Amino acid sequence: MKKPSKDLMFPLFFPFFLTLLLFPAPILSWKKDEFRNCNQTPFCKRSRSRNPGSCNLVSTDVLISEDGDLVAKLIPKSKRLDFYDENDNNIENGTNIVKPLVLTVSVYQNGIFRLKIDEDKNLGLPKKRFEVPDVVVDEFERTKLYLSRKREEKIGDDLVESSIFYLADGYEGVIRHDPFEVFVREKGSKERVLSLNSNGLFDFEQLKGGKEEGEDWEERFRSHVDSRPYGPQSISFDVTFYGADFVYGIPEHATSLALKPTRGPGIEHSEPYRLFNLDVFEYLHESPFGLYGSIPFMISHGKGRGTSGFFWLNAAEMQIDVLGSGWDAGADKIMMVDQKRIDTLWMAEAGVVDTFFFVGPKPKDVVRQYTSVTGTPAMPQLFATAYHQCRWNYRDEEDVYHVDSKFDEHDIPYDVLWLDIEHTDGKKYFTWDKVLFPNPEEMQNKLASKGRRMVTIVDPHIKRDDSYHIHKEASQNGYYVKDASGKDFDGWCWPGSSSYIDMLSPEIRSWWGDKFSYDSYQGSTPSLYIWNDMNEPSVFNGPEVTMPRDALHYGGVEHRELHNAYGYYFHMATSEGLVKRGNGKDRPFVLSRAFFPGSQRYGAIWTGDNSANWDQLRVSIPMVLTLGLSGISFSGADVGGFFGNPEPELLVRWYQVGAYYPFFRGHAHHDTKRREPWLLGERNTELMSDAIHTRYTLLPYFYTLFREANTSGVPVVRPLWMEFPSDENTFGIDEAFMVGNGLLVQGIYTERATDVSVYLPGEQLWYDLRSGMHYNGGQTHKFEASEENIPSFQRAGTIIPRKDRYRRSSMQMEHDPYTLVIALNSSQAAEGEVYIDDGKSFEFKKGAYIHRRFTFANGKLTSSDIAHSDGKTKYISHCTLERVILLGLSSAYKTALIEPISKKAIIELGPLRLHGGRGPFVPTIRKPGVHMADDWSIQIS
Ligand code: GLC
Repeated sequence: MKKPSKDLMFPLFFPFFLTLLLFPAPILSWKKDEFRNCNQTPFCKRSRSRNPGSCNLVSTDVLISEDGDLVAKLIPKSKRLDFYDENDNNIENGTNIVKPLVLTVSVYQNGIFRLKIDEDKNLGLPKKRFEVPDVVVDEFERTKLYLSRKREEKIGDDLVESSIFYLADGYEGVIRHDPFEVFVREKGSKERVLSLNSNGLFDFEQLKGGKEEGEDWEERFRSHVDSRPYGPQSISFDVTFYGADFVYGIPEHATSLALKPTRGPGIEHSEPYRLFNLDVFEYLHESPFGLYGSIPFMISHGKGRGTSGFFWLNAAEMQIDVLGSGWDAGADKIMMVDQKRIDTLWMAEAGVVDTFFFVGPKPKDVVRQYTSVTGTPAMPQLFATAYHQCRWNYRDEEDVYHVDSKFDEHDIPYDVLWLDIEHTDGKKYFTWDKVLFPNPEEMQNKLASKGRRMVTIVDPHIKRDDSYHIHKEASQNGYYVKDASGKDFDGWCWPGSSSYIDMLSPEIRSWWGDKFSYDSYQGSTPSLYIWNDMNEPSVFNGPEVTMPRDALHYGGVEHRELHNAYGYYFHMATSEGLVKRGNGKDRPFVLSRAFFPGSQRYGAIWTGDNSANWDQLRVSIPMVLTLGLSGISFSGADVGGFFGNPEPELLVRWYQVGAYYPFFRGHAHHDTKRREPWLLGERNTELMSDAIHTRYTLLPYFYTLFREANTSGVPVVRPLWMEFPSDENTFGIDEAFMVGNGLLVQGIYTERATDVSVYLPGEQLWYDLRSGMHYNGGQTHKFEASEENIPSFQRAGTIIPRKDRYRRSSMQMEHDPYTLVIALNSSQAAEGEVYIDDGKSFEFKKGAYIHRRFTFANGKLTSSDIAHSDGKTKYISHCTLERVILLGLSSAYKTALIEPISKKAIIELGPLRLHGGRGPFVPTIRKPGVHMADDWSIQIS
């Protein structure tokens, strides 16, 4: 959250400003009391207090359904299995009537199974529990395997009945009946991979028909009362990752990449990792507190077994404990398995158990498996992968033209200029302030003539103003979220009194999408794209700055059940609207702050309102890496920090790191000093400009990586262990990262750093892209910290495509020639790829793209076609290759023969030229003259 516009908020917030004047320091930090902790969250407190082994459920016989699923019922152990009668649905358990739960297991291709547990819908429930729609992609459903066989086996010391089923070659799934447990194991060794309820913490609060005497279902927090009309309905269970050294994932938190234990010996008062989308004012740089988005997907990695993953599709508030070893000391030993492991506890306020188990066994396999369920990231337009300039706010058209011309004056490229909330008429989205922005179309067209785009902000809160067309239509059609009493929910946000579009309904989403048509969004042009903010949703006067949990959505769904997915549906509706406005031709660009599994299909994500300090620069890397591991490869942090004024040194370092974020945008709060790259002195301008140029030079590499993410889910920036899964030294590293498989980048996160240590993983060499020198892998090296750049290294054995000419925007680089940087390994070999398409349309889906593999071996560089296209639709590019740089080439090689054009060239020394300047001189073949789209080879001798 940020400071509201003063005129509207003054009466309401007067005491706030008074406090600000009296106690400036503490108020400028995270307002802890505004948010609930686990103890103030009854379901979390209840789940956390349960003891291992307290689950008393057992599974009935497991049957195979007509759909090829495994189906069983879970009933309390007190009900003896042999007396269980299918028609006996009300089981006495102490004072409560407990109904059997229904368990379903479905198996999919590539080592994935889905376990669902829900109440029995045939038994007349007070309400159907919410299952999150439109997240699992249709293609995934089509990969389902129809099980026709299962085996019974007695396992463990007590020879307990279990049902074994095929999962993938080398893996099988097991449902143990008593006590109930589900796990995956390797077939031959029977070593476990992943399990659920091995610690007996499973608990499923079934919906009751009504309150028992004296029972109070209301929950209070500060001045807010949650009516909780359906009472307790939480679910919790433990999940164990075997052979794991660390667990990762479950964004969004500002914390380390490897998740820290939250319970266990020596850990006092730690909160679980919370997943609850919230607008958090000045978040801390090290906290398990939940931020703007939630992805309940965890990955484990270990040297022994490799990687596995677990995903719970549930949109209610979730809390997750990582249990440190010895957490269960004193409890009866439940887990009889003698394998290294990490236990975790998952707790959600509502919903159903709808979980996915991924066997890996490599890091990239798990990400592929997860994105086969929730979708791979959308392929962005090329411009979106370049540099974005934003600020709250660029005041008026004159300001826009001024900023635009300054970039040109300083020869700094940029692609997109952003307009924040003040560009609207009274925070009514889709409108323009007529005084400040009288000619929006002309403004966009002028920028577009230089190949530049604009982005405007569109938030989900709608001003309750009868003269506002969006409000009129939404209220007349009943498109708003309702409060618990059934009236349109009315909350406070930027425009003052606002209502919120109910994005759960496909019909309402489609109506919303139509608002982006050029007719409807007056003043918009094809070069205008969209920013969705405040979609957690943020409600300034709501509990924890969000919507009350008992608000009601389409179909009677309570807000508590879908809270974490609200922003996702909003993002989806906007993104689909942009596709529609261009008749399905152009790829959309929509940045969103809130996210959920599947958001990667709709656009980019940024890490919200960070602050201008070194710790926040540092934590941006694990945050971006975690998003990438969780499917969202297109993400970044506000460069420079949103709140506060960065010292020039920090701003420069931020640009140097930010140039490698998949989403690269400078942004700042309206209270901060202007900080466009030319405002902090000539030297700093030069340094920031070099950082931005570095990004533009590497755009062909980034774009190729975005395509890799789009086809496989493997993220653009990656933790080191994703590329070096057996190098244990990398498992805890989150200050350095890989861009693709070829570049390792180390940020500088301290003021006036004189040196910087970098661990270079693996067993091969690394080439320092600043000096051209090579270094051994498997060692930590110390480098002098230079103000000019941050350390970056190319991995021996890789080839990286670049475009080296300085232009104003990515569009102006379209026809520029390419450079290939070849980093030779010890066998004087290397390989790499380039992906090229029109940078904007969906034609690539029909095969209109160029995808080449470059291989260097035996002194010969070869370019070959790896496009999987039928050749009917083609992308034509006349781009040529202008330079081949050969790092690590022996000086014995002097000449090159280029075929099929039979051209001879000499190998000379040329500048390496990354990070501004010319850099060291290294072996170079100039102007080979071949086309990027063609087959060719270059033989050196
Ligand atoms: C939120 C956003 C921020 C934006 C501001 C005004 O705080 O996170 O980026 O500038 O709202 O729209």
